[in-house]
Amino acid sequence: MADVEAALEAAGLKNPHVLEYVRFYADLTGAERVEVVSAEDDARLIQEALDAGELEPAGEGRYYSRSYHKDTARSEERTIVATNDPKDKGVYNNWRPASEMKPLLHDRMRGAFEGKTMYVIPYLMSPPGNELAPWATGVQVTDTRTVVLHMIRMSRVGPEFLEDLDDPSQFVRAVHVTGDLEHLGQGTPEDQRYFVTVADERTILHFGSSYGGNALLGKIAHGLRQGAYDGWASKKFLAEQYMLIGIHDKETGTDYHICGGFPSASGKTNLAMMLAPDALGERYHVSFYGDDIAWLWVDESTGRLMGMNPEYGVFGVAKDTNEGTNPTALASIAEGTQAIFTNIAYNPQTREVWWEGRTKQPPANTAGWLDWTGSPIADRERGEAELPWAHPNSRFTTTLDNVPNIATDYNAASGVPIDAIIFGGRTRDREPLIRAIHDLAEGVYDGLTLGAEATFAAEGKEGVLRYDPMSNRPFMAYGEGDYAQHYLDIVGAATDQPIFAHVNWFQRDPDDGHFLWPGYRDNLRPLLWLLQLRNGEVKGRQTAVGIIPTEEELNLEGVDISAEDLKTILSINKPRWQQEMAHREEHLALFDNMPEAIWEAHRRVAEALEQESD
Ligand code: GDP
Ligand code: PGA
Ligand code: MN
Ligand code: MN
Repeated sequence: MADVEAALEAAGLKNPHVLEYVRFYADLTGAERVEVVSAEDDARLIQEALDAGELEPAGEGRYYSRSYHKDTARSEERTIVATNDPKDKGVYNNWRPASEMKPLLHDRMRGAFEGKTMYVIPYLMSPPGNELAPWATGVQVTDTRTVVLHMIRMSRVGPEFLEDLDDPSQFVRAVHVTGDLEHLGQGTPEDQRYFVTVADERTILHFGSSYGGNALLGKIAHGLRQGAYDGWASKKFLAEQYMLIGIHDKETGTDYHICGGFPSASGKTNLAMMLAPDALGERYHVSFYGDDIAWLWVDESTGRLMGMNPEYGVFGVAKDTNEGTNPTALASIAEGTQAIFTNIAYNPQTREVWWEGRTKQPPANTAGWLDWTGSPIADRERGEAELPWAHPNSRFTTTLDNVPNIATDYNAASGVPIDAIIFGGRTRDREPLIRAIHDLAEGVYDGLTLGAEATFAAEGKEGVLRYDPMSNRPFMAYGEGDYAQHYLDIVGAATDQPIFAHVNWFQRDPDDGHFLWPGYRDNLRPLLWLLQLRNGEVKGRQTAVGIIPTEEELNLEGVDISAEDLKTILSINKPRWQQEMAHREEHLALFDNMPEAIWEAHRRVAEALEQESD
């Protein structure tokens, strides 16, 4: 049996509550060894993973990993929020009693680490010294070395991050057990997997996957689900699936900060890494704060709404990342960055990597190339030629220090003031390029009724149109009505309220399916318009569903778009919106305790739409 006390002491981890926690799970899982890790162990762990064949080199200072073929995305069905209070049950959080789930998970985990090392990962999900740091501290245990390597890239990892706790028992206990992936019945009625956040006990119990979104517990389970629950219980903050960017205007010397939620695989990372389009680059610079999670709170001394990114790295979608769409991403995963790729195509002879959209055509010489499942491309039968080389949800993982446009103050304890909150998603019709909303309740209402196509980031969901409140549907920790009220309370307490907006980069031509808006770097243009609107420099055109830009107000210098497409993305289709309002009413009626202010906003918009001329 592992000598837990000796391992923790050797790492300088003196917290008696950590010892008690690690000892409990080492005993339960039957771990043979216990090893505390910190970011400084990275090079050694990389070498061990290479020696064990868990990673393969992808050029100099870059690595490739392949996951089990049924373990490539988050599972929403198997994800559960458990508490001791049935009042925490919502529509989307798959609530179950803690008393039922804990023994069930402990049963699954019993003996699972026999003969294995249990890695202990102390982590912090905030910039050091941030006022939310007390809620951001955790200790993950895991049996999988590549999970450790990903955690080191995605979070601040090391025993030192546990030292500043006022109450030494207040860290999140995050237990990850991979299980025998080949015998878990993924996606069948006998599915063995469970991903449980016991939110009111601040304990995360995940069994049955080593895919990032299920296994990096600091990121998804703590950064989003646990954070959301804690933020509500403490009445102090919001934890949201938001990107967070800075826009610097070199002409006026002004800095703006925008955060916003789009469902997984709908453009957050690309927006955060955005390089200003050539025509605007001389005046504006976009800086990266975060691409997947933001915690928001009100600074009591200034009264401003503040935001910070709890993460330390990027877990990005590889598909369609290239020099044109996202040169910043390519630089952040270049050789020497210690980036890790998962489930892309790999050539073990040349150590090259490829994914759909990396170049227009896949490598012409298929010799040596393996697809994401490890099958040689050259052996493909006729009829298999259309199969993708990389999994659509293949990913890259890299630390923030590698991101060329990382904000100089991303590590600052204070966080940054928020000027605008945007929502968006993949919506093929109806949603214009951007519509701005000044009113808080209408903005929150708009976020709650975010409807978009689900993506390959969740198992078996691609293309399904569904509501995804604030892009948090997979991460909802408590009831949606209570969530809406908490959101109104937090943002409503700010003295200088942010402007809201709904954006859509994904409207398509109904006939040939092309994207009407070029997207990517050009997405800066509608965001600049939004900031100008907030500053009173432009007026836009008021519609029932918000203010939309006129063609003249948008800076379109150098944009490749037809007059007809431009007209479509800057207009409101009244009948289509009226249809939508009926769906929204049904959607909102699903939730208990929805604040009256949200219903009033809904009725106001519906009425204004009736009044609108066709
Ligand atoms: P995230 O998961 O929300 O962070 O989304 P990503 O930024 O990783 O993007 C997911 C997918 O959407 C990638 O394949 C991107 O290439 C694609 N994407 C991102 N932004 C745009 C855009 O503005 N237009 C189009 N057409 N595709 C985009
Ligand atoms: P994404 O992050 O939103 O960038 O896809 C991972 C996830 O949400 O699963
Ligand atoms: Mn996400
Ligand atoms: Mn992303």
